[in-house]
Amino acid sequence: MKRICIYPGSFDPVTNGHMDIIKRSAAMFDELIVAVLKNNSKTPLFSSEERVNMLKEVTKDISNVKVDSFSGLLVDYADKVGACTIVRGLRAVTDFEYELQMAQTNRIMNKRVDTIFLTTSLDYAYLSSSIVREVAVCGGSVDKFVPEYVSDMIGKKLEFTQGGN
Ligand code: PNS
Repeated sequence: MKRICIYPGSFDPVTNGHMDIIKRSAAMFDELIVAVLKNNSKTPLFSSEERVNMLKEVTKDISNVKVDSFSGLLVDYADKVGACTIVRGLRAVTDFEYELQMAQTNRIMNKRVDTIFLTTSLDYAYLSSSIVREVAVCGGSVDKFVPEYVSDMIGKKLEFTQGGN
């Protein structure tokens, strides 16, 4: 039986920290589905389609990674795609409370799916999509924080949205 794992998130945008978790978890499973949450309440920098396209581009060399989007409950999506595991990255103890709550809620809703945590590599422990967005919006370079392709896409997006300023 194929061991399928889901890496869910907002990925607005995908960072080098996410890439670290993607590479390490893809090596542990037959298939890793990076699943972008659609239509969450936050005001995103990128649409879910744009986020999916960026993820496809930056994971194209990892043969067992698929990129998809989902709405509704994550555990229902897991059943739909036949996944038995959800992976999440833990950067610091501050992530833990929310992650534990989500994992326990998901487990109560669906016993067929387990959540595993990977500790983020120390190089990326400080990094988040929101910090990347803030640096970019304030005119800083995000080259050290995201894949080159994503940095280019952020540049284009801000040129478009801030073009008139
Ligand atoms: O990158 P994020 O924003 O921390 O990811 C959060 C995500 C997408 C994993 C979480 O919000 C989620 O799974 N949403 C789907 C709705 C759901 O199943 N909620 C119940 C979990 S307690």
